[in-house]
Amino acid sequence: MRPFRTRLLAWYGRRRRDLPWRTTLDPYRIWVSEIMLQQTRAQTAIPYYQRFLERFPTVESLAAASEEGVLAAWSGLGYYSRARNLHLAAKQAAAGGFPRDYESIRALPGVGPYTAAAIASIAFGLAHAALDGNVMRVIARLEDDAADLSSSRTRERLRGIAQELLDPRRPGEFNQAMMELGATVCVPRVPDCGACPVRSQCRAYSRGTASQLPVKLRKTEPQRIEAELALVRRSGRVLLWQRLASARRMGGFWELPSPEQLPGMRRLAVAGAFRHTITHHHYLFTVIAASIARAPLEMRWFGTEDLVSIPLSTTARKALAVAG
Ligand code: ADE
Repeated sequence: MRPFRTRLLAWYGRRRRDLPWRTTLDPYRIWVSEIMLQQTRAQTAIPYYQRFLERFPTVESLAAASEEGVLAAWSGLGYYSRARNLHLAAKQAAAGGFPRDYESIRALPGVGPYTAAAIASIAFGLAHAALDGNVMRVIARLEDDAADLSSSRTRERLRGIAQELLDPRRPGEFNQAMMELGATVCVPRVPDCGACPVRSQCRAYSRGTASQLPVKLRKTEPQRIEAELALVRRSGRVLLWQRLASARRMGGFWELPSPEQLPGMRRLAVAGAFRHTITHHHYLFTVIAASIARAPLEMRWFGTEDLVSIPLSTTARKALAVAG
């Protein structure tokens, strides 16, 4: 039987998607891509990645940018602490040189074990297995391992297996091949085992358990929350408030106010509704067209043309879009 690595890498060579971060070995570009891909799917990330690198083509240009500019370029991707950490790390890397070994990459703000392994292997050819949700699913199936992925002991065991499987001569290609298999073939619930290059080595395939793996016992039930946003317009402008720079989430972003923030607000009409999910919180927002006699001092009016140059939250974007 051809070894696992040979089959997997041959398949990856034939089937790999053309993704823009796969045409470079520039550590800066690979790092930006891996940060984006932490919580964003590859297809969604592509246009953001290209725009971000046009705006900040080098680590020095990112280090020299304002935080507002970095957040504006990230706007729409969500999980904005990623952008803040990227900016902070760029300042460190621009001053001291881009780190070139696993531990120093891992020490950058916003870089965990998975991202450090991905950057170290792809940009520097270092033999560190990258274990994300996709790769854990692939390995749980290869091993027919029904242990709970929510447990750190399970994840450590899977990490050991990933490290043994890793091809030390082509670690970057190998890691990306594992991610690719998880993203395109060994997908959750309905894996496409017929298209899998390593099914003959997969215990779950031979036992018919692939679709039931991996096991992940949910610790937090999703919460449903209903909330309102007020859309107050005046002479073609819209009223927004800005989160404190030090806020735990979305610091520095501009938002539509809630009715509670507008004492004496008059409701004119329901302008629309939309859903928005933040990790385990599923929001249903209703957008209320409203008027007020006097805007609170800390709020500001923005014309449509101003909205592209400020960090505008995703909920505000969605609200403006559904309200037309
Ligand atoms: N997800 C995380 N890193 C990735 C990469 N380099 N290619 C595709 N998907 C990924």
